[in-house]
Amino acid sequence: MSINSVLCRDLGLQYPIFQGGMAYITTGKMAAASSNAGGLGLICSSGLTAADVAREVAVAKTLTDKPFGVNLMLQSPEIEKIMQIVLENKIPVVTMGAGDPTPFMPALLNAGVKVIPVIPHVKAAQKAAKAGAYAVVAEGTESGGHIGEMTTLALLPQVLAAVDIPVLAAGGIADGKSMAAMLLLGAAGVQIGTLFLVADECPIADAYKQSIINAIDTDTIVTGRGTPHVVRALKNPMSLKYAELEKQPGTQAERDRLADKASVKAVRGDVEGGCLMAGQISGLIKQGGSIAAIMQRLMREAEATLAGAGRLLG
Ligand SMILES: Cc1cc2nc3c(=O)[nH]c(=O)nc-3n(C[C@H](O)[C@H](O)[C@H](O)COP(=O)(O)O)c2cc1C
Repeated sequence: MSINSVLCRDLGLQYPIFQGGMAYITTGKMAAASSNAGGLGLICSSGLTAADVAREVAVAKTLTDKPFGVNLMLQSPEIEKIMQIVLENKIPVVTMGAGDPTPFMPALLNAGVKVIPVIPHVKAAQKAAKAGAYAVVAEGTESGGHIGEMTTLALLPQVLAAVDIPVLAAGGIADGKSMAAMLLLGAAGVQIGTLFLVADECPIADAYKQSIINAIDTDTIVTGRGTPHVVRALKNPMSLKYAELEKQPGTQAERDRLADKASVKAVRGDVEGGCLMAGQISGLIKQGGSIAAIMQRLMREAEATLAGAGRLLG
C-alpha cells in the first residue's frame, strides 16, 4: 500500500514531499537531487540575481528530467526578470513566501504555472485561493527561517476548512509519524526545510549541519518580533546578542551590523557569527544521509504509521 496524493498525480511526483526553498542553500543541484529522489525540489531565488537564477535552473535541468520548482522572493529588485526566467524555462511550479503574490499570479497562471504561496494564516490562504493558486503551504511558526505566529497544528485544520484547494503542511515535520499526522488531518503533502539541511547534498558547511544535530528542543530563538522580519534560528552568540540588543532601545544600527550577511556566514560555517536558521524540530534530527534516503525513510514511517492507525480503534 502506498500513500495517494493529489500532488503526486498533478505534479508528477513519486512522494508528496516538497524540499522547501531555503535562501542561499537550495541550489539547482540540491533541488535536482530532491526531485530525483521522488519529491519536489525547489530552487530558492532569495538573494540571487536573475542571472544566478537562470544559472541554477540550467544546472537543475542538466541533472534531472523530473519536475522541479522555483521559490520566488517577491521583494527581489529583479523579480520581473526572474519571473521571465521561470516562464521561459517552463518551470511547472513556483512557491512564494513573504509578500503579496496576487500581482504576479495572472502571468504565471496564463502560462500554466502552478502557483503555491506559503501562508501563515487563513486570510492569506483565502486570498491566494481566490487569485487562482493551485495549492498553499500552511507554514507554522515551528519552522526555521521567516515565520508567522500560528502553530502548524492550529493553522492546518483552519486553512483546510477555509479553502477548497490542496494544502501542504510545513513546520516541525522531520519524521514519517508527523508526516502521517498531517496527512490524517487532511494535508495533501508536506514541505520540509530543517531536516533537509543535514542531507548529504545540502551545500551548507558541516559545522552548521552539526549544530542542528547537536541541538535540543529548546535550542531555537525568535528575533524580530513586531517587525516584518521575524526569524527562527539556532541559539548562538549572534542570535543571542541580537535578542539582547532588541531589549535595548537605540541599538538598531548595531543589530543591522550583526545581521548583515548573517545567513551567508552561516552557510559558510561561521557558527558563532552567522544566523543558523533552523526549526524547532532540530532536536529530533540526529542523522543526515542522502536526500533519497531521507525521503524513503519518511515515506516508510508515514506508511507504517497510517497502516497501523486502525489499532487505535476497537
Ligand atoms: C535555513 C532556512 C532558510 C529558509 N529560507 C526560505 C526562503 O528563502 N523562502 C521561503 O519561502 N521559505 C524559506 N524557508 C522555509 C522552508 O522553505 C520551509 O517552509 C520550512 O523550513 C518548513 O519548516 P521546518 O524547518 O520545520 O521543516 C527557510 C527555512 C530554513 C530552515
